[in-house]
Amino acid sequence: MAANSAALALEDVPSVDLMTELLRRMKCSSKPDKRLILIGPPGSGKGTQSPIIKDDYCLCHLATGDMLRAAVAAKTPLGVKAKEAMDKGELVSDDLVVGIIDEAMKKPSCQKGFILDGFPRTVVQAQKLDEVLEKQGVRVDKVLNFAIDDAILEERITGRWIHPSSGRSYHTKFAPPKTPGVDDVTGEPLIQRKDDTVAVLKSRLEAFHRQTEPVIDYYAKKGIVANLHAEKAPKEVTSEVQKVLSS
Ligand code: AP5
Repeated sequence: MAANSAALALEDVPSVDLMTELLRRMKCSSKPDKRLILIGPPGSGKGTQSPIIKDDYCLCHLATGDMLRAAVAAKTPLGVKAKEAMDKGELVSDDLVVGIIDEAMKKPSCQKGFILDGFPRTVVQAQKLDEVLEKQGVRVDKVLNFAIDDAILEERITGRWIHPSSGRSYHTKFAPPKTPGVDDVTGEPLIQRKDDTVAVLKSRLEAFHRQTEPVIDYYAKKGIVANLHAEKAPKEVTSEVQKVLSS
């Protein structure tokens, strides 16, 4: 019965979509597995580069910020717990985020590895991630450090607009949508994040320097950190990422 309904569902999928998926899977089968972490302050470009890396290497993109915002919007118990800290630009508790990442990494789309965007953000989270991966007999391959001066970030953060359901991110000056306020792909409206204000950015940066920078040292001791020049234009940052990942 289940197999029958699956077959029927496949029959309903347009041929062009099936072919695209088939070609994607063929391309992915030749790609090496990769487990990557993207670390950097708010607005450093992690969310901009992640979809490109994801497509190049057939990885899943796990962004704890996006997952938490979805939980807040859906008013789930997790979202209710996370909302207050997020609105203030503080970190939510380690146990909450480790739980959602542990669960998310089990998805079939993570079979060839993952991009962790915005996680781990504390040394405790990094240690817990190591424990989870050790049980699976795998480890983090590379940590991409989006190094950038704080002074550049205010303009990036206050000019950002996002498409909430896909996570696509735009910028009024650096990456404008084709039509202002509208997502290029779906035509749906773009929104500004509640924490993308000058005042909340200050707390987010403070949390980054105090709690997340030690995570970079944690991975530097393992010799797996690659430093990027995140102040460069998006395409130049993409080239740096591709160079690091192909070496
Ligand atoms: P999260 O959603 O992870 O936010 P963040 O780390 O502050 O990062 P951003 O999404 O703001 O920046 P980004 O680096 O992705 O920049 P983007 O590419 O969009 O976290 C939000 C909150 O959730 C946290 O404050 C915390 O409360 C909670 N949370 C999340 N994870 C947690 C965890 N692990 N533990 C505890 N709490 C957690 O770029 C920004 C803008 O600049 C865009 O408009 C873009 O178009 C533009 N841009 C990008 N690159 C360039 C470039 N090279 N040149 C010019 N413009 C560019």
